[in-house]
Amino acid sequence: MIFINNLSYRYPNGTLALDSVDLHIRKGEFIAIAGKNGCGKSTLLRHINGLLVPCEGYVVVKGMDTSDTSHIQDIRRVAGMVFQDPESQFIGMTVEEDVAFGPENLGLPPEEIQNRVDSSLNIMGMMGQKNHTPRTLSGGQKQKVALASVLAMEPEVILFDEVTSMLDSMSRNDILLHVKQLHENKTTVVYVTHHLEELVYADRLVVMDKGRVIHDGNPRIILRQGNPLNLGIELPPVIELSRRLCDSGLITPAFFPLSVEELREVLCQLM
Ligand SMILES: Nc1ncnc2c1ncn2[C@@H]1O[C@H](COP(=O)(O)OP(=O)(O)O)[C@@H](O)[C@H]1O
Ligand SMILES: [Mg+2]
Repeated sequence: MIFINNLSYRYPNGTLALDSVDLHIRKGEFIAIAGKNGCGKSTLLRHINGLLVPCEGYVVVKGMDTSDTSHIQDIRRVAGMVFQDPESQFIGMTVEEDVAFGPENLGLPPEEIQNRVDSSLNIMGMMGQKNHTPRTLSGGQKQKVALASVLAMEPEVILFDEVTSMLDSMSRNDILLHVKQLHENKTTVVYVTHHLEELVYADRLVVMDKGRVIHDGNPRIILRQGNPLNLGIELPPVIELSRRLCDSGLITPAFFPLSVEELREVLCQLM
C-alpha cells in the first residue's frame, strides 16, 4: 500500500534527516515507529502524506508517486495525519465546524458532511461536545477531536505523530484504545511513539536512528533481544521486568509481555 524506496531527505539548511530509507507498509498493518528525538520519525511521516517530497528515492502511496504534485489531494485523502499538538490542528470555532472542515473541502453534499461529522464524533465519544469551542477542551478531548477530523475524511491510512506525548496516562490509554479499534476496523495505522508500552497492539516495530531504519520486525522479538536499548529510548519498567523474567527462564520469549496487563496475565498462567 505504501512503498518507500531508498528515500533520503535533506532540509534546506543542510540537515540530512532521512538516509536511504526502505519501507513497505501493507494494507491493514499496525506499524509502530520508535527512535530517539531527531532520528527522522516526523520527517518520514510527512513524506507519506506528501507534506514533504523526497530529495532522493521515492514514496508511492496506493500507486501514486508523492513527487507528482497532481496526486497531492488524493494522497492526503488516502493518508490522514494526527500531530503531537492538537492545538495546532484546529480551524473551526466549534468542535462540529472543525470536524466538518475537511469533508466540506472535499465538496461533499451537506447531508454526507453531516453524516460523516456525526459518525466521527460518535466513534470518538465526542458527540456531547459538538458545540464546544475546541480550545476549552482537555488535552485528551482535543486530541480526540483532531482524530475525529481525520476520520471524517475516511482515510485508509492514519499517521499518528506522537499523539499521546502531551497527555496524561489515562487519556493516553483512551486514545490508544481508539487507535486499536480503528485498526480492527481495517484502517492501516502508522504510529510514531516514544512510549514503548504503547506497542502492545502493533504488528510491527520499526526503530530508526540518524535517519535510517535499523530494526524492522516483531516488537516483542526486538524488545526481548534488547536491540533498541542503547538508542536513548526509555525502557518502561514493565519491559525491563519482562526481560529479567525471560533471562531467568521464568517466562518463555514466545509471548514477551509489553504491558502490565500482559505481564499479569502471563504470571497468572504460571501459578
Ligand atoms: N524544518 C526543519 N528544518 C531543518 N531541520 C529540521 C527541520 N525539521 C526537523 N529537522 C531536523 O531533521 C532531523 C529529523 O527531525 P525529525 O524528523 O523531526 O525527528 P523526530 O520526529 O524523530 O524527532 C533532526 O535533526 C531535526 O533537527
Ligand atoms: Mg517528531
